[in-house]
Amino acid sequence: MKNLIFTLVITLSVFATTKAQAEESLYQQLGGEPTVDAITKNLIDRLLVNPKISFLFEETDREDLHLKIVDQICMETGGPCEYEGLDMVEAHSGMDIKYSEFDVFVEDFILAMEDAKVPFRLQNKVLAIFAPMREDVTYE
Ligand code: HEM
Repeated sequence: MKNLIFTLVITLSVFATTKAQAEESLYQQLGGEPTVDAITKNLIDRLLVNPKISFLFEETDREDLHLKIVDQICMETGGPCEYEGLDMVEAHSGMDIKYSEFDVFVEDFILAMEDAKVPFRLQNKVLAIFAPMREDVTYE
């Protein structure tokens, strides 16, 4: 009988854990605010020194871009934030961003997630959200 109760308790707690995981937003799975903040900081560090695209950020207010990207990642991954910046077409209009430059940006984004120890599986989920924005951001 004792064994039966023990097995029941274990089984129920496994179910409860699985259910809790299923209900976690991608934002929570990433580690929430500290991780998103670290990814964004690392991403911007990389963009600003990347010879292939840094020229595009010469006039950019780093602090402002940081806050906006944090909010956008947070909102898009189901976190409790509201992105209040420009929409993606407006934000990038006039920059003539090429597909190849978009790819460089994505590479830096991946490296930033790697540095933040985001598991590959979650990196892919994040990229699946941002990749479709390519047509709004680029001009080709
Ligand atoms: C999915 C990919 C991208 C996302 C999610 C994204 C997101 C953003 C956001 C949220 C802003 C701030 C908008 C505002 O000021 O209200 C911004 C600005 C900017 N983005 Fe992107 N971006 C992406 C791709 C790119 C790429 C590929 C480049 C260049 C290679 C780029 C260059 C810039 C620059 C230079 C600004 C700053 C404009 C300024 O100085 O005000 N972005 N981006």
